Amino acid sequence: MKTALTLSGSIRKGSVNTMLQAQMGRKLTEAGVAVNAISLGDFPMPIFNEDLEPHGVPEAAVQLAELWRSHDIVFIASPEYNGGLTPLLVNAVTWVSRQRPSPFRHAIFGIGGVSSGKYGTIWGLSHLRESLTKMGALVVPTLLGIGPADQAFDEKGELVEPAITRKVEQMVTELTSFSRG
Ligand SMILES: Cc1cc2nc3c(=O)[nH]c(=O)nc-3n(C[C@H](O)[C@H](O)[C@H](O)COP(=O)(O)O)c2cc1C
Repeated sequence: MKTALTLSGSIRKGSVNTMLQAQMGRKLTEAGVAVNAISLGDFPMPIFNEDLEPHGVPEAAVQLAELWRSHDIVFIASPEYNGGLTPLLVNAVTWVSRQRPSPFRHAIFGIGGVSSGKYGTIWGLSHLRESLTKMGALVVPTLLGIGPADQAFDEKGELVEPAITRKVEQMVTELTSFSRG
């Protein structure tokens, strides 16, 4: 059975990206994948600074890197902040990127995001794709940018737009059929 780790770049109460994380988790579960949903709020790390490294790496960074290495699939839902990514996600990825062996070369990665605006995190996701790819990750091609957030979900937290639901399903197919061997 394949395993998936899901996370959100927002730990805000009521986060729409955490809703997308949950939706992707349900779809992966339906596809027969064992899903492990985590919150970055449970992985506290100081703001990255190379001067800190000689004094030790935060345990949370070691644990997060090991989770990325030990799942077949990693799905990241991220808000877009100012056309980029959230400091929470950038900080976590930065700490994780310093761990060895590489946490990026095992799993197949899927990325998606929900924003309050109609452009649906497309700029933020393009930063995330480029950064993950630069570090050697294999990121599936589907672009899962969703917005505006207030029209995206019903009261049960399910995505309402059929075209978006099809994209989620397309990403599930990609995530479950691609493999790094
Ligand atoms: C600092 C900041 C910057 C933002 N920049 C953008 C942006 O560039 N594009 C966008 O579509 N939404 C932007 N937003 C709005 C977010 O899309 C919105 O707050 C969204 O709900 C955040 O996701 P979350 O609910 O998962 O926390 C920004 C919000 C904040 C707080």
